[in-house]
Amino acid sequence: MYKLLFNLLFKKMDPEKAHHLAFFWIRLARSVPGLRSLVRAVLAPRDPKLRTTALGLDLPGPFGLGAGFDKNGIGIDGLSMLGFDYVEIGTVTGEPQPGNPAPRLFRLVEDRALINRMGFNNQGSARVAARLAARPHTSSTPVIGVNIGKTKVVPEDEATADYLKSAKALAPYADYLVVNVSSPNTPGLRNLQAVQVLGPLLWDVRKAADEVTTHHVPLLVKIAPDLADEDIDEIADMALHLGLDGIIATNTTIGREGLRTPAARIEEIGMGGLSGAPLKARSLEVLERLRKRTDGRLAIVSVGGIETAEDAWQRILAGADLVQGYSAFIYEGPFWMRKVHKGLSARLRAAGYASIGEAVGKGIR
Ligand SMILES: Cc1cc2nc3c(=O)[nH]c(=O)nc-3n(C[C@H](O)[C@H](O)[C@H](O)COP(=O)(O)O)c2cc1C
Repeated sequence: MYKLLFNLLFKKMDPEKAHHLAFFWIRLARSVPGLRSLVRAVLAPRDPKLRTTALGLDLPGPFGLGAGFDKNGIGIDGLSMLGFDYVEIGTVTGEPQPGNPAPRLFRLVEDRALINRMGFNNQGSARVAARLAARPHTSSTPVIGVNIGKTKVVPEDEATADYLKSAKALAPYADYLVVNVSSPNTPGLRNLQAVQVLGPLLWDVRKAADEVTTHHVPLLVKIAPDLADEDIDEIADMALHLGLDGIIATNTTIGREGLRTPAARIEEIGMGGLSGAPLKARSLEVLERLRKRTDGRLAIVSVGGIETAEDAWQRILAGADLVQGYSAFIYEGPFWMRKVHKGLSARLRAAGYASIGEAVGKGIR
């Protein structure tokens, strides 16, 4: 059904317009009480065995929506209604900004992939914080991660102040906070992954979050798949040293290897981060490396190329406490989360584990 809709409508539309249309429908469905319950009942049933605890948070399952889909936190409940176990909003920057000129989002259908150079288009930390503050808090409120990044016009050596502005505004409303230093679409951003810079930045964000909250807000860093293995080890060591709560791996890649899409088309698209199926192998590799280095002493959230329940299960066995997806949602549609949940539940039961937590890291040789 969704495949038909995708082929007949979305595939022919500009990808960013298709995103806005689909997201509008999701929010619309959520605003109609009868429809909301129906959609939730069909798409979001979960085996209670999938309930899990990570980052000190209690979640209905391990499978969340990665950052970038809901940059401004406008559709959290609609996305939760579709079955995501948690929603990471953002990237939110200190100041509002329009992002890069369009076109800036491209589909590589043959590769089940996307290339984007959105450039952190978002309403800025103050406005997003006000929106989150206005949300009614009920027992059914989904877990919300807030991902923060640097405003483009802020020079690299003033990055900390910009992150601190976002952290102070948003930490009170975040179930967890992510420092994003790995998007390829903000010039210089990934230089912040150098541990000499990243360590002090994370330390300052930690302090800022503590200043504005009375409880511990878990802090994570999101890293790129393009880092050298030694850099990944260094970041893992630094994260342990700082007492960080977790690492999200990975963001999109600047690599273009092994694609089926013709080279001329890739050339025509130009710069941007590649996500989806082609990212699968490297994201798994980064996860395995992080897990080996940190040995369960901090949470690892694995993201990149997860398309099926089997993919998600492999990440859990390889040591992911939580998983996320984005690109496959575009190709698979609203039944995706249900399919992944069903498959995860079947695998968990077949393997005889009592919970997801028990399965984490069990595939490590
Ligand atoms: C259109 C688009 C926008 C994204 N925007 C962000 C973002 O603002 N911040 C971020 O940390 N990651 C962003 N990402 C990266 C995703 O969160 C995720 O790390 C990446 O796409 C790999 O997962 P996937 O293969 O399941 O898509 C974006 C991805 C896409 C496709």
